[in-house]
Amino acid sequence: MSNQKLNAWVEKWAGIMKPEKVYWVNGSEEENQRLFDEMVASGMAIKLNDKKRPGSYYFQSDPSDVARVEDRTFICSDNEEDAGPTNYWKAPDEMKEILLQKYEGCMKGRTMYVIPFSMGPLGSEIAQIGVQLTDSPYVVVNMRIMTRMGQAVLDVLGDGDFVPCLHSVGKPLQPGEKDVKWPCAPISEKYISHFPKTKEIWSYGSGYGGNALLGKKCFALRIASKMAKEEGWLAEHMLILGITNPEGVKKYFAAAFPSACGKTNLAMMVPSIPGWKVETVGDDIAWMKFGKDGKLYAINPEAGFFGVAPMTSMDTNPNAMLSADKNTVFTNTGLTPDGDIWWEGIGVDMPKGTIDWKNNSRDTAEGEPVAHPNARFTAPASQCPAIDPKWEDPAGVPIEAILFGGRRPSTVPLVQQAFSWPHGVFIGSVVGSEITAAAIGLKTGTVRRDPFAMLPFCGYHMGDYFQHWIDIEKNSPDASKLPGIFYVNWFRKDESGKWLWPGYGDNIRVLKWIFERLEGKAEGIKTAIGYLPKAEDIDVSGIEKTRENLPELLKVDPEKWKLEIADIKEHYAKFGNKLPKALNDELTALEARF
Ligand code: OXD
Ligand code: MN
Repeated sequence: MSNQKLNAWVEKWAGIMKPEKVYWVNGSEEENQRLFDEMVASGMAIKLNDKKRPGSYYFQSDPSDVARVEDRTFICSDNEEDAGPTNYWKAPDEMKEILLQKYEGCMKGRTMYVIPFSMGPLGSEIAQIGVQLTDSPYVVVNMRIMTRMGQAVLDVLGDGDFVPCLHSVGKPLQPGEKDVKWPCAPISEKYISHFPKTKEIWSYGSGYGGNALLGKKCFALRIASKMAKEEGWLAEHMLILGITNPEGVKKYFAAAFPSACGKTNLAMMVPSIPGWKVETVGDDIAWMKFGKDGKLYAINPEAGFFGVAPMTSMDTNPNAMLSADKNTVFTNTGLTPDGDIWWEGIGVDMPKGTIDWKNNSRDTAEGEPVAHPNARFTAPASQCPAIDPKWEDPAGVPIEAILFGGRRPSTVPLVQQAFSWPHGVFIGSVVGSEITAAAIGLKTGTVRRDPFAMLPFCGYHMGDYFQHWIDIEKNSPDASKLPGIFYVNWFRKDESGKWLWPGYGDNIRVLKWIFERLEGKAEGIKTAIGYLPKAEDIDVSGIEKTRENLPELLKVDPEKWKLEIADIKEHYAKFGNKLPKALNDELTALEARF
């Protein structure tokens, strides 16, 4: 290896973490197979039935290590104020002292894997390179699906700079000690730490998902959002899709929704109106920069989908199901007696004798969930039948619309268009989801604001982040080429709690109105909250019964909006003097319009 900085860094950490050996991951097929074989031999993985699910493996995590741990996730800026009111903070020195003690000897008895990875197509000007050190072979095989990794990345890196990412599961092995199936540290000892000034990630104690696959939430959102702020671009929790109308005209949209609002479903949607096509560029993260033509271009920094399995089926998301039909890693789903996977909502009855995620054999799916609600599939994006032909274009795809949404049973109409860029930023800053009975410790029926769906993912003060979005307009080469901003809501209910909108593939009917607005073909009625469609401009051919719901779906109820405005004021108060004046002005103007 010729990169002196990289070599010295690996050597330094090998000295501290004391692994049995250091292994540089090359990304080859043989290497991947060997790692899976080793994990099967050690009991960490089970190979699925090759006739049903070729090249695929099954894992069960430790019950304490099943999801992102927000209260163990830290933004370590020099000043607490720079982390802002929505992040946990610790001083960089203090955090490094804690973690240095934990890292000392933490890889004893294990292999340290060195994973060079690229977020984004290799060599794209928008892409970034990171190197992750980890003692988890599970992380290596997942990173191989979720990123471009291995020797090809080192070739592109040359002697250039990289984002250093440290990861250990935090379970050293004493001589002769037998390993457990899923090594990790107790929750109170997990630390997912970000150093935005020096662009470093130090993760300890968890082997799962966003805590351990450091390219995803840690790098592509928390660290990249800080880079984007410094350099004038955008790193966002957004899907990217291409939409083609029956005349063959194609546009690309990006969309931000809080977790568990159907982002993967929207990204892979099968449209219910003939002639329209939706193709997937990405389902979770978008990096956007201005191109030479002044338009905003987006890449998907990832190479795979780390999707929530439960409730995914051939009905709700056939493209996700087909993406995961081979070469896929399944974690915390059920395992059927014939060596395939099962989860709640998969669309077939659970075979008797299925093993649940806690490794119990089950006669029935009743009672405790068989798959953990956050069970995941890790599937290569290239296997998605709806993958967009330009998904790996190093230049990215030009974004013409940005959509924001959340679960809002009342108040927020099916769709509205922002009046202007600052009004669109206002909409992004107030999106959120209604809290359901399932969320512990929160008041049911209230709205949990999740600005830009970035609440757990912004690497600096959210008020500064809002200002960055406002500034994009004046910093853009040509403000007339900025994407239109829209607020969508598939989740409206009537007074009796019944859904007013069918959702899923029928959401194309809303995308169609947006598409036609961008082309200047559809009318927008000016209301107090934005431009809304006329009921007759929403295409309900084939779902005529929905027509009677349209007046309610498109209603702007002043009484409800007065309550909404009061709630937004409370939300905004958290940001104090960091709330951009432009957003306060938008709120004042909204209030005045009612
Ligand atoms: C995710 C999330 O896992 O947003 O993508 O939580
Ligand atoms: Mn996400």
